[in-house]
Formats: sequence, C-alpha cells, structure tokens
Amino acid sequence: MPTKKVTMLVNAKDVIGHINPEIYGHFSEHLGRCIYDGIYVGEDSGIPNINGIRKDIIDAFRNIKVPVLRWPGGCFADEYHWKDGIGPASQRKEIVNTNWGGVTEDNSFGTHEFMKLCSLVGCEPYINANVGSGTVQEMSEWVEYMTSGASSPMTKLREANGQKEPWKVKYLGVGNENWGCGGNMRPEKYVDEYRRFQSYCKNHSGNSLYKIACGPNASDYEWMETLMKNLNPWLVNGIDLHYYTIYDWAKKGHATEFDEEAYYRTLGSANYLDTLLTRHTEIMDRYDPDNKIGLVVGEWGCWYDVEPGTNPGFLYQQNTMRDAVVAGMELNTFNRHSKRVVMANLAQAVNVLQSLILTEGEKMLKTPTYHVFDLYKGHQGGEAVYCYADKLNSYEEVPLISSSASVKDGKMTITLTNTSISDEAGVEMDIAGFTFSKASARILTDEVHAYNDFDNPERVGIKDMAVKAEGSRITLELPACAVVCISLEA
Ligand code: AHR
Repeated sequence: MPTKKVTMLVNAKDVIGHINPEIYGHFSEHLGRCIYDGIYVGEDSGIPNINGIRKDIIDAFRNIKVPVLRWPGGCFADEYHWKDGIGPASQRKEIVNTNWGGVTEDNSFGTHEFMKLCSLVGCEPYINANVGSGTVQEMSEWVEYMTSGASSPMTKLREANGQKEPWKVKYLGVGNENWGCGGNMRPEKYVDEYRRFQSYCKNHSGNSLYKIACGPNASDYEWMETLMKNLNPWLVNGIDLHYYTIYDWAKKGHATEFDEEAYYRTLGSANYLDTLLTRHTEIMDRYDPDNKIGLVVGEWGCWYDVEPGTNPGFLYQQNTMRDAVVAGMELNTFNRHSKRVVMANLAQAVNVLQSLILTEGEKMLKTPTYHVFDLYKGHQGGEAVYCYADKLNSYEEVPLISSSASVKDGKMTITLTNTSISDEAGVEMDIAGFTFSKASARILTDEVHAYNDFDNPERVGIKDMAVKAEGSRITLELPACAVVCISLEA
C-alpha cells in the first residue's frame, strides 16, 4: 500500500462559521422499521423501554448528543393528520402508510410519544407538518395544541390527553418535498402556499418558531431562486434542501457488495454536496446578504437497493466503511459551509437508509456511520476554522483527504477522512493561532466492505491511535479508508 504525503494547515484565527449542534441532527420517519419495531416497541414489549421507547436507542442517541430529531416524515408528513395520533392509544384510528409499503399503522406513536422521545434524548423536536394533503387550520391547530399555554379547545384537548404544560417546539417544517411527494407543486405555487400556511403558525406563550420551507431537490436552483425571490426573513427562517448520495439512479447498487468503481462513484456523488452547497449559498447570498435565512439539509445520506428479502418499501440497507467515509466527508462539508448551513438531518436514524442503528427483535447494533457521529461530536457548537489539505485526489474528483476543524472551550477538534481504498496517507499538519500541550486521536478504519451485523455487532468500532506532536506540528499515518478525530488541548 503506497503512502501519499499530505500537507495540512489549520488556522484557528481564521473563523469561517459557527457549527450549530443541529448540523449533527437526525431524521425519524414513519417508514419501514424506523419508528414501529425500531425506536418504538410499545410499553408491553419485553425489550427494555421507557414509555414504549427502546432504552438502548435512547442511550445511544444521548451518547452522540443527538441535537435535533425530525418527524414524522418525509413523504409521510404530507399524508399525516396529527389528530389521528393523540388520545388513548387503543382508540386511535388506523392508517395505511401509502408511501412506504402500504402497511397499516395503529397510530400508537403520535405527538405525545414523539415529544417524550425528544425529552428522553435531550434533543430539539423538529415537527414537519402537512401542506400537500393538509389544511391551514390543521397545521395552525397542531402548533397551538403543542405550544399554547392559553385556555382554548386545543389546549384543553392536550390537557385531557395528559399534558398540562405546553411543549417548546422550535423547528417547524411547512411541508416536505412539495416538488414531489408533497403535492407535485411548481415553485411559484408552493411559495404562495408556504406564505399562507406559515401566516397561521403563531408564536404562542413565549414559544418562538423557526419556520422551515420546503427547499430544492439537489440541484434545482430554480426552486431556490423562486423561494428566495418571494420570501424574506420575516416569513421564513430556513430552507430545506434534500440531497442523497446515489451513484446510479437506474440501479442504486448493493449496500455491501460493490467494486472499486462503485465505491469511488459513491464518494464522487457525496463530494458533489460541496458544489451544491456552494451554488445554493450563492443564490441565498444575493437575496439575503446578512445571512438571516439558514440552509437546512433536512435529508442526506447514502441510498442503495434494499437488502434482498426485505420489503422494498421499507428501505432497509446495511452500512459499511464506505458509508462511514461518506458520513465523514459530508459532515466535514457541512462544517466548512456552517456560515449558511444551520442544520442537517441524516436519513435516517434507525433501520432505514444510512442508519445510525439497526435492530432485530431485542438485538441492536451501532453502524459504522454511528461511530462517525461519535468521533465528530466535539464539533457541535464550535467555531469552524480554516483547514487546508493538499488537493490530492484518490480518484478523479474525489479528494484524498476530506477535513474540517473547529475550536470550542479551549479545545480544537480536527476531523479527517482518508477516502482512498488502498493508499495510506502520511499527514503533516501545522497548527496556527492555537497553542496546545496535549494531542490525542481516535480512528475508525477497516476494510471498505466491513460492517457490523447481529453475529458480529462490534467488528467496526473506534480505537485510539498514535499521533505525534512537536511544537505546532502534528504528524500521523492515516490508513486507507479511515475516519479520524484529533483533539488538541491547551
Ligand atoms: O428518506 C426517505 C424519503 O426520501 C423521504 O420520505 C422523502 O422526503 C425523500 O424522498
């Protein structure tokens, strides 16, 4: 395995953005086994739970400091009618999840259960409300039900359902993918609908909503342009872009069996996020030079063919070191764009697409992607600083080293991903503007196809690694296909 020499420079004096913890956010949709038979097993389950929510999942989310959770969809959101999911669980009406597998759901997981989940995890709820098949009144009443402290039919209903005090709800999505499953609207139509719906979503009882409009699908710059032209910071706080890493739409490919070309094409697709964020930011900068409207990436991650033998509507896929490398690249990209990007939500948290966690009955495992969020958690709330790595490529347009750095509470966090499938990287890094006396590093690395399964749930995991520090210079040997976090302390 040849070693490529890489020179890097980190300058703590050059602050490029603030890394909102919400950039490390997640997404939980009523899709396949994400909620039911995933996060939520019900109070009567033999699996240890708190109010029906799996305890091992709560602990795992807390460990990586999940800052925000988006719910109930996705495409499901624009078919969801929240009143079906409140009141005594045995009396809730059944619904058919027409987007995802046509399965019948009993609505036992609704608003109260989601808010309980968020409070157990210690994260902000991000409620995505229904525009496509919902009404203005329905959305307005949901906000009132959750957040108002006044006496009204909605708040009395909430109290009758066991919640006296209003909840705090900051993030409100006004529709999801309204260019597609959320109503197939043209941007002009959606922007008018957005303006109308958001007018009736009020700030009750000291709660302050951060209103998020449905943003573009990947490179639909016209959608972004239309929204920015017709909205302003009084009407909207954030715009939600969706971008999935899919290297071939015709055949998404297998999650664990792939060749070198598929590996690098997947990474090429992941790297394209940088271009997308740059171009969408350019549009936003033109209309909003004061940077008041945030760019949210409400759905991102790798999307492959489903695991053979599973329901095609459930989007269940395994998760290898390839996914870990993609997660490392994308999180570095968000950090570097943190001046405009205020939130990102990996799709999805449990048992769907690029999951953090997989479950099978009482068994639960953490995927390589989960471990990347563990490695990167020191960035949450930090100031992103300039971080340069030699522009070497591991393959065509895929940079050999993806990187980002931040400073918080007198500590510097630097994260690196060696994207090469075969080459080690000998990294020499100079640190400017930050004096440190202690350097440590942790690494996630394995053969590119390696994954955790229920027979071997801890095959891929984080280990300590050696890092040499002399004065302001750090040197380390990065194995191929690796994600690393370096911590520097004064
Ligand atoms: O995450 C799966 C689906 O992908 C979501 O429901 C939808 O918003 C997107 O198309």
